[in-house]
Amino acid sequence: MTQTPDNSPATRQILVTSALPYANGPIHLGHLVEYIQTDIWVRFQRMGGHRCIYVCADDAHGTPIMLKARAEGIEPEELIERIGHEHRADFAGFHVAFDQYHSTHSPENQHFAELIYTRLRDGGHIARRTIRQAYDPKAGMFLPDRFIKGECPKCGAADQYGDSCEACGATYAPTDLKNPVSAISGATPVEKESEHYFFKLADFEQFLREWTGSGSLQPEIRNKLNEWFKAGLTDWDISRDAPYWGFEIPDAPGKYFYVWLDAPIGYMASFKRYCEGHGLDFDAWWSPDSQAELYHFIGKDIAYFHTLFWPAMLTGAGFRAPTAVFCHGFLTVNGQKMSKSRGTFIKARTYLDHLNPEYLRYYFAAKLGSGVDDIDLSLDDFIARVNSDLVGKVVNIASRCAGFIHKRFNGQLADSLPDADLYQRFARSRDEIAKLFEAREFGQAMREIMALADVANQYIDEHKPWVLAKQEGMEDRVQAVCTQGLNLFRVLMTYLKPVLPAMAEKAEGFLNVAPLAWNHVAEPLLAHRINPFEPLMTRVDPDAVARLQEASREDLTAATAPKQELEGGPIAQEIGIEDFGKIDLRVARIVKAEHVEGADKLLRLSLDLGGEMRQVFAGIKSAYDPADLEGKLTVMVANLAPRKMKFGMSEGMVLAAGPGGKELFILNPDDGARPGMRVK
Ligand code: MSP
Ligand code: ZN
Repeated sequence: MTQTPDNSPATRQILVTSALPYANGPIHLGHLVEYIQTDIWVRFQRMGGHRCIYVCADDAHGTPIMLKARAEGIEPEELIERIGHEHRADFAGFHVAFDQYHSTHSPENQHFAELIYTRLRDGGHIARRTIRQAYDPKAGMFLPDRFIKGECPKCGAADQYGDSCEACGATYAPTDLKNPVSAISGATPVEKESEHYFFKLADFEQFLREWTGSGSLQPEIRNKLNEWFKAGLTDWDISRDAPYWGFEIPDAPGKYFYVWLDAPIGYMASFKRYCEGHGLDFDAWWSPDSQAELYHFIGKDIAYFHTLFWPAMLTGAGFRAPTAVFCHGFLTVNGQKMSKSRGTFIKARTYLDHLNPEYLRYYFAAKLGSGVDDIDLSLDDFIARVNSDLVGKVVNIASRCAGFIHKRFNGQLADSLPDADLYQRFARSRDEIAKLFEAREFGQAMREIMALADVANQYIDEHKPWVLAKQEGMEDRVQAVCTQGLNLFRVLMTYLKPVLPAMAEKAEGFLNVAPLAWNHVAEPLLAHRINPFEPLMTRVDPDAVARLQEASREDLTAATAPKQELEGGPIAQEIGIEDFGKIDLRVARIVKAEHVEGADKLLRLSLDLGGEMRQVFAGIKSAYDPADLEGKLTVMVANLAPRKMKFGMSEGMVLAAGPGGKELFILNPDDGARPGMRVK
């Protein structure tokens, strides 16, 4: 390694990314594991004097975003714009400091997606084939596996997705589902042919095997790759038919890049945008002979895309491959998958409404290692850990020493340290702690730092400045002991700065020093005037944690229960478009309406559905004379399971509106409706 004049390793050029969050929902604490992990690593690199650029973007394409925009009655552009703002604000709230946050729906991304595709095509790495796929004839679109539901071919469980069964874990093709329906329209999918474009992944097997073996991957992921190699690398379908929300393939009108093709290219696009604003040479970072390092932080669920497709695409298109891909595990809360009903599906914004973001940064740091194990946020442990480590240990050192220096010595630190060896012991830990940060062993780094904090507190306990302060002629001693304590605190705060940037900034203000940097710890702070102490961090309030959980539980109903009272009472629990799509609404002609012997609310209706007759009992007697109803058209739920009632079978439901009594109106379709027509 080359050496700079001050004998430290040469400044590295490091480009870092986190996965691009989908622009169809809010950031939650699970996401934050990744963004906080990455941000800590980036801040650590910068504190060491390296050039470290951190880019990210919203992943703004794909079917779910298209459908969500439709459901909201807005254009996808409007949706991704809004969510983009929310994401940025959430990340800023947690001090996740990107150099650039962009969008995959950007000119830069379109440019690189087209460039990479064209180069792959010209290199012979794109194949075209006609495939048969499920198609929704009603919605007029091909159905992604996730949008087909039906009964599991293995165990028969109802309402399973087209790729796997949540009940028995079987995986299968959507065509294997029994009684499949489109989750978009409820229609029965048909098979339809279409030409698709494929990336020939197997062309890159040799390269991928070498790259995998070059230390770019964690052992767990390397093993996974070897399994994938054994299973054989198959072509990857990179095209989707219109209607699709994404970039059109340049030489294939009506065909679009699959969202996962242009998503990782978003890393380049975001960096390109950064280069334009900062006069950086893009090629110096992305050409095959680049000396820069490139790291992707991702969750283990998306390893396949980042360790196979992405490096292969880059190489095939004449770009460099990543230096390494770092996978992390999934977040559980109180030992379980995050759950809305338990109040443990916690959105970033809700957290910020109740708690200090640095509590979570510290807690995640304390839990994170370099592996892919899941990490658990136990809320009780969270409270205990943060209070004991940060408030009880770290802040305590400063608060026990600062007052004396301020009040008795006009803020002036002593000229020398009473225990220089102890200081050196703290300063020498720098390399060990740096190694742990570099290796993403944050949990171990936090343990080392807290062990030092214990030592610092022991020092103060032993020398008792509060006792010395009451003794005659001990003035110098008090100043010396407190100067020692504050210097130990300063070293600890430097080590914690990547994790606690806001608290470090407060400490810089109070210590009256330039931004703490890794190599400043070599020299202690002496004969220096500090500022009055300000509280650096308060204890975690367990009530605030309880309120956070409560608010997260409410989040479920918040979306569905508007603040003002609705005339008909609160809106029921939210359902998705897929739920709504299951309801088959039809126009029906009321052929006969009769009183029911012994029922004071019900009328027996004979309904003509345009060829099929149904008997329905409807509770509308208070509002209608049977004779007035006959011959009228109404709207009914045609696929409601028949229910056996006291007076006979009811084979559907008639839709009516109103508070009841005389004010109950059956829904009346406009002129031109015919029985059997679908209601949309
Ligand atoms: N859009 C894709 C990534 C494209 S990258 C070119 C995606 N988006 S995501 O919003 O679903 O997830 C973003 C990141 O957050 C992923 O790395 C994912 O693994 C991570 N996490 C999402 N939920 C998580 C937990 N519950 N726990 C830990 N990380 C999780 O995937
Ligand atoms: Zn099953």
